[in-house]
Amino acid sequence: MNQPETLASLQASVHAPESVKHVRLLAWVREIASLTQPDSIYWCDGSLAEYDRLCGELVKAGTFKKLNEAKRPNSYLAWSDPTDVARVEDRTFICCEKKEDAGPTNNWMAPAEMRNTLQPLFTGSMRGRTMYVVPFSMGPLGSDIAHIGVELSDSPYVAVNMKIMTRMGKGALDVLGSDGEFVPCVHTVGAPLLNGQADVAWPCNKTKYIVHYPESREIWSYGSGYGGNALLGKKCFALRIASTMGKKDGWLAEHMLILGVTNPQGKKYHVAAAFPSACGKTNFAMLIPPKGFEGWKVTTIGDDIAWIKPGADGRLYAINPEAGYFGVAPGTNEQSNANCMASLNRDVIFTNVALTDDGDVWWEGMTKTPPAHLIDWQGNNWTPESARATGQKAAHPNARFTVAAVNNPALDSAWDDPKGVAIDAFIFGGRRATTVPLVTEARDWVEGVYMAATMGTETTAAQAGAQGIVRRDPFAMLPFAGYNMADYFAHWLELGAKLEKRGAKLPKIFTVNWFRKDADGKFVWPGFGDNMRVMAWMLERIEGSSGGSEHAFGTTPNFTDLNWNGLAFTEAQFESVVSIDHDAWRAELKLHDDLFAQLTNLPAALLTTKAKIEARLGA
Ligand code: GTP
Ligand code: SPV
Ligand code: MN
Repeated sequence: MNQPETLASLQASVHAPESVKHVRLLAWVREIASLTQPDSIYWCDGSLAEYDRLCGELVKAGTFKKLNEAKRPNSYLAWSDPTDVARVEDRTFICCEKKEDAGPTNNWMAPAEMRNTLQPLFTGSMRGRTMYVVPFSMGPLGSDIAHIGVELSDSPYVAVNMKIMTRMGKGALDVLGSDGEFVPCVHTVGAPLLNGQADVAWPCNKTKYIVHYPESREIWSYGSGYGGNALLGKKCFALRIASTMGKKDGWLAEHMLILGVTNPQGKKYHVAAAFPSACGKTNFAMLIPPKGFEGWKVTTIGDDIAWIKPGADGRLYAINPEAGYFGVAPGTNEQSNANCMASLNRDVIFTNVALTDDGDVWWEGMTKTPPAHLIDWQGNNWTPESARATGQKAAHPNARFTVAAVNNPALDSAWDDPKGVAIDAFIFGGRRATTVPLVTEARDWVEGVYMAATMGTETTAAQAGAQGIVRRDPFAMLPFAGYNMADYFAHWLELGAKLEKRGAKLPKIFTVNWFRKDADGKFVWPGFGDNMRVMAWMLERIEGSSGGSEHAFGTTPNFTDLNWNGLAFTEAQFESVVSIDHDAWRAELKLHDDLFAQLTNLPAALLTTKAKIEARLGA
């Protein structure tokens, strides 16, 4: 007869600390270990000592280079495998029982079929490696809006990044107690080391699967070590799984930055903005008001993800579930984003930027004059001349930094507040060289939802595949909604209607486009800090104190409605970023049709709104 298993023997079987009394967690760790067959199991406590030790091991393994301590204290550089540099959307799956619940914008496979597909891949996938048990909280520890996940990963790079990006370690385990709920996340780079085989600096597999089971709230990721493919708290949990949780329980998980903005009179507003990947969230969240905006202050709550819940007062409260920034390096400099540059002074993990001869980092756009010599992100010599001759990039266009939120000099005092901040305005914005005006205020919630739902944007280096292709990216959530996009639109409409019924004042909805280009292909709008001019107009619109002209799909400011102090921008230039070309918009609406045609169960309100816009545009 078998003795019933004791907690102690279960703990011992997975090398868990004695303090871990969560039987379901222990049993799951054992199950995954027996599937993936790691050499050892290590439970992360999230301490600084542990972080330093793991970073040291990554240096020894050749994954990390320690940067010059005098120039960039406590910082590291990783170069990934050249085939593993961005999220892989075509390898990302939503596996719910019914295909229509994933909807036409997601890759779908039936859960049983996917489990059969993954079983042989995960079998023995961690051989020769350590399996890190990475417990983490998305949201402030113990807050009733936070949720816990546990990632099992054979990548120490993932473990140290998760330390920065989430509240990771013992604190999260304590919150779990002996029977708390957690989202199980299994991650392997898919590169077992057999018979003493030597490791490479960036192990990964050319086969990749980023898999979500929304019904059982599980995440399984195979073959990639990069960003959102591997740091499973971020897009996989905090967006894809959380969006399905929000749909069920009446809240929103969004690809949005959250910022505080205080005007010279001392009144503070909170704004949440959804821009697609590599379209300006981190920069907007850290905005420094330009000359002419003395007395204004912008503070960061989050730079990528917002969890938004209706409060008892009918307002929408947002928290940033993350604790760090995994931000785009190229284009970041003292002029465009001094707060970000200051955040990166120390304690940073850089991935795929270039190494300078004095052991520091560089990327395209960091300085006007590039260094005379670098080692590029693929380990090759790089000079300005070689770049001119071959187009060779020093940093990969999706090169990133990982840094703790507390490094940000503009961090908002409420960034960690479990109650969140009440949102006054939502902004949606894509990257469009033409057609879409600088800023538009929707007439009401439904029109705003329509504009967000039909937003188009040019693809960027944040996702594998061709760049610069205009695609629909509803709510900047195309790659991140964990369920049917039509149901997602309905969820936004229903939430608005429900709050309005309760007599709540809904946030205003705006759409923006910082990226209109002139005939020479140059951005017309200065962007970055000067985006404050647009934000100030939005806040005045909330107060009813600023003008604009109504047009087919909302209201756009006239030249005289913006504050131009400190900027030489002509009325003609302004006209070229706000003009609305009716022919281009009729063509644009055809692209809305293409999106809508894919979706069954599209909320009727969107079709009605479209008909109104068409009527205003004229035949
Ligand atoms: P993800 O982390 O991928 O979600 O990206 P993000 O939305 O946070 O974008 P981020 O702020 O990192 O900006 C991406 C790129 O766009 C960087 O190269 C920025 O320099 C550039 N960028 C950001 N804001 C502006 C702007 O207002 N104007 C112009 N022209 N470029 C901008
Ligand atoms: C994005 O692509 O929107 C990111 C980077 O924020 S990643 O975490 O890799 O998804
Ligand atoms: Mn993002």
